[in-house]
Amino acid sequence: MAENKAGVRFLNKIAIVTGGCQGVGKGILDVLLEQGGKVAVFDINDKLGSELTTSGPGIVKYVHCDVRNEAEVKRSIASVVEAFGGLDLLVNNAGYAPSVVRTPLLEEFASSLPDPQKQIKNWEDSVLLRRLAEPKEIGLACLYLAVDATFTTGFELNCTAGSEIGYGVKQ
Ligand SMILES: NC(=O)c1ccc[n+]([C@@H]2O[C@H](COP(=O)([O-])OP(=O)(O)OC[C@H]3O[C@@H](n4cnc5c(N)ncnc54)[C@H](O)[C@@H]3O)[C@@H](O)[C@H]2O)c1
Repeated sequence: MAENKAGVRFLNKIAIVTGGCQGVGKGILDVLLEQGGKVAVFDINDKLGSELTTSGPGIVKYVHCDVRNEAEVKRSIASVVEAFGGLDLLVNNAGYAPSVVRTPLLEEFASSLPDPQKQIKNWEDSVLLRRLAEPKEIGLACLYLAVDATFTTGFELNCTAGSEIGYGVKQ
């Protein structure tokens, strides 16, 4: 039976997500795939990269690319443009700093501290919404900028749920 692709908002658009094998980048990848995108993941974790599958009508392609290597980035972008026929969206996630997002990196960092649960509670209390972000919530912000914000350039969209309002634990 043909898959119903009606209503998806990123159908056949072409994107690159750096660091898309896990964490925030994986959340962004999943949202774009659910919305029908053709998405290339630039990452250095080849094991996770080889296991990436589409979570929607979109198509995913893994490209081994260390974003610290400019020549490799240029080569990888050219390979995506050739494979998919263009480029509509680049998400520079590897190295990007959102607020506190529940990812392997964050959990690993918390577990290296004396009281991980207390640290996680502290992070939650520093956010007005009193919770960590889920990776796909950052993906939804990317989707908004890519699809809806059609007259927007150079805009900084804070994905922080108000963490920066009076930095620290909220009363
Ligand atoms: N999770 C948070 O709350 C938080 C907070 C502040 C900043 N950040 C930053 O946001 C980014 C994503 O965070 P995350 O929590 O999803 O991390 P993560 O470690 O869970 O995932 C990072 C992904 O990037 C890939 N990666 C690492 N180095 C790379 C490189 N040189 N080239 C290409 N890919 C590379 C990893 O293989 C992995 O798939 C990181 O730069 C992190 O420092 C995250």
